[in-house]
Amino acid sequence: MTQIFGHRGASGYYPENTLISFEKALEMGVDGLELDVHFTQDGELVVFHDFELHRLTGEKGFIFQKTLAEIKTLKVHAKNRTASIPTLQEVLSLIQVFEKASGKKIMLNVEFKAGSVHYPGIEEKTYALCLTYLPNQQLIFSSFDHYALKTLKSAHPEAQIGVLSTAALIDPWKYVNTLHGDFYHPHFMTLNEKELSKLKAHDTKINTYTVNSTDTAKKLILAGVDGIITDYPDKLIALKSKL
Ligand code: G3P
Ligand code: MG
Repeated sequence: MTQIFGHRGASGYYPENTLISFEKALEMGVDGLELDVHFTQDGELVVFHDFELHRLTGEKGFIFQKTLAEIKTLKVHAKNRTASIPTLQEVLSLIQVFEKASGKKIMLNVEFKAGSVHYPGIEEKTYALCLTYLPNQQLIFSSFDHYALKTLKSAHPEAQIGVLSTAALIDPWKYVNTLHGDFYHPHFMTLNEKELSKLKAHDTKINTYTVNSTDTAKKLILAGVDGIITDYPDKLIALKSKL
């Protein structure tokens, strides 16, 4: 059955990548959460999407130019709310508390925001921290920076990686295999019926993003994708229960 991942939490309703967004997504009944990680100037892992602070906080500059203490003075303004930028540890702790209270197991897709800014060592530090809260089989590490995935997989072959892509790839199953990838994480617009059946024929596991239309989600669920990453997890969970 297709797993539903809350994209940056329940970011269609709450400020993306904040504790309230993750908490609400968990309460909606997600199978998993997706989030983005960066290093602060002092090497702490924080959960935020953009490299630059401005869109969400109004502050100038980049995440990597601020210490964690400075980041903690900022507020995310979105969806008519204000919230703090969480550390990765705070989100992991929230998941752990939820798992204990609910008896559910939650998948976590951690996306390394490596690429235009480089964060040497982010893969190792993130993986080590995640493993102190969740077992390996509940963790998927993804990135558009495939060097980051290669770095993690080379050091830890048991770590599950998801190969993110915005554009359609030629024979993606071959490329994913080259990276020893566990999942292909394509933008949903790159998936048509033909492509999906080829991916299925090659046993490529697919978690696709960011699907907010229930019509599109229905087609993808019926086609047997492994996971869907959405800003509106409640809508897709309701849809899934009717199929
Ligand atoms: O991991 C899926 C999706 O989050 C990738 O794109 O830009 O929303 O992080 P983005
Ligand atoms: Mg992301």
